[in-house]
Amino acid sequence: MENLRIDVSKVYGFVDKKKINQYQAAANESIEALYQKTGKGNDFVGWVNLPTRIAADEIAEYEKVAQGLKGKVDFLVVIGIGGSYLGARAVHEALAHTFSFLKGKHEYPELLYAGHNIGEDYLAELLEILAHHTYALAVISKSGTTTEPAIAFRILKDHLEKKVGKENAKDLIIAITDEKKGALRKMANNEGYKTFVIPNDIGGRYSVLTPVGLLPLAVAGHDLHNLVAGARQMMEFTSPLISFEENPAALYAATRNALYQTGKTTEILANFNPKLAFMAEWWKQLYGESEGKENKGIFPASVNFTTDLHSMGQYIQEGMRNIFETVISVKETGYTLRIPAETDNLDELNYLANKRIDKVNKMADLGTLLAHVDGGVPNILVEIPEINEYYLGQLMYFFEIACGISGYLLGVNPFDQPGVEAYKKNMFALLEKPGFEEATRKIRERI
Ligand code: PA5
Repeated sequence: MENLRIDVSKVYGFVDKKKINQYQAAANESIEALYQKTGKGNDFVGWVNLPTRIAADEIAEYEKVAQGLKGKVDFLVVIGIGGSYLGARAVHEALAHTFSFLKGKHEYPELLYAGHNIGEDYLAELLEILAHHTYALAVISKSGTTTEPAIAFRILKDHLEKKVGKENAKDLIIAITDEKKGALRKMANNEGYKTFVIPNDIGGRYSVLTPVGLLPLAVAGHDLHNLVAGARQMMEFTSPLISFEENPAALYAATRNALYQTGKTTEILANFNPKLAFMAEWWKQLYGESEGKENKGIFPASVNFTTDLHSMGQYIQEGMRNIFETVISVKETGYTLRIPAETDNLDELNYLANKRIDKVNKMADLGTLLAHVDGGVPNILVEIPEINEYYLGQLMYFFEIACGISGYLLGVNPFDQPGVEAYKKNMFALLEKPGFEEATRKIRERI
């Protein structure tokens, strides 16, 4: 059976294989530290062996809720921000029909998202749509106090209660939060909502395999068993028992750190399959929040090819040479579609007649890789056999464990995000939140 594979040979022209191998001991120590919980942020490494801890009855719980909503509601609105929504969205958008919203009546509720911005127009338009549909809410916040989802939940809860009545609304609200603390926990207990617990030792961006990701994905009809099985398989491939050369996560972490040391300070995650666009959003949060601190860290960027070859392609080919690329390549597509032949050949495409679209895409992929390498952009390949739950499970666990290793190689705590507080403090001061009086006074002097 095929699995995720990584190929770093297209970085050797930029950084010696020896330089990458120099990280061997440190990478092995980092993996040990993640498993033994002896590294920085060791209170938040519960995700490391999570794939082996998800029992069938836990999955059955999510599926029970999903069964209850199937056929009952058109939409599940996932309310959360950052790690509290990106994982579910990345998996769902990779698996769902691209035009599912236009497909008429659905077997499973469609996912909609709220609480990941403070867009008044966004929320108003969402309410406009929800007025004509049945829906349930999954409000997700580990801290239970994050402003964006709290605002969205207040508005959507009010809308739902007015639509179906307070008592009925209770049965359509699921809260996913801390076991004991936070405003959301308090509210859920008071109101009697169905709740799921986010484990204490798992931070938002590593939480896709907790109820944060699993509950919405179950409601959307995805196969949780295969998702978890894929992650479990990748856990085996990247465990402390695997040698450095055979461990794809250690190799990825070492390679990107070696590139960083040569001045490659931006990593661009590229894909050639539009279904993976949100996987890149999830990846950017994972790496950006985990590594960007203490004035260090690779800047994670992303592009969708071939679309962005007609925009960002110019920069990647000829702009500042501080970038490297990691391409997620998918071996097999879900469909087969061939380019037809035409008698008059006015568009001069007959040289492609009877060829699969994916053949053209793959040649675009290979051509781009070689062009970018020639242009001074090292390339890491991450290949998955196809897009399904199993390989997405492999891919996400691969990126998570590699991120933990990479953060340790960089010398930072990959499990905190102190920098996120700065904007919140200013926003609360500007909004005159009780308790921020002194900050309000000070900030007013600056504006
Ligand atoms: O990775 C993280 O910890 C963050 O991105 C959080 O997921 C995000 O800030 C949302 O936090 P919360 O779940 O507490 O609302």
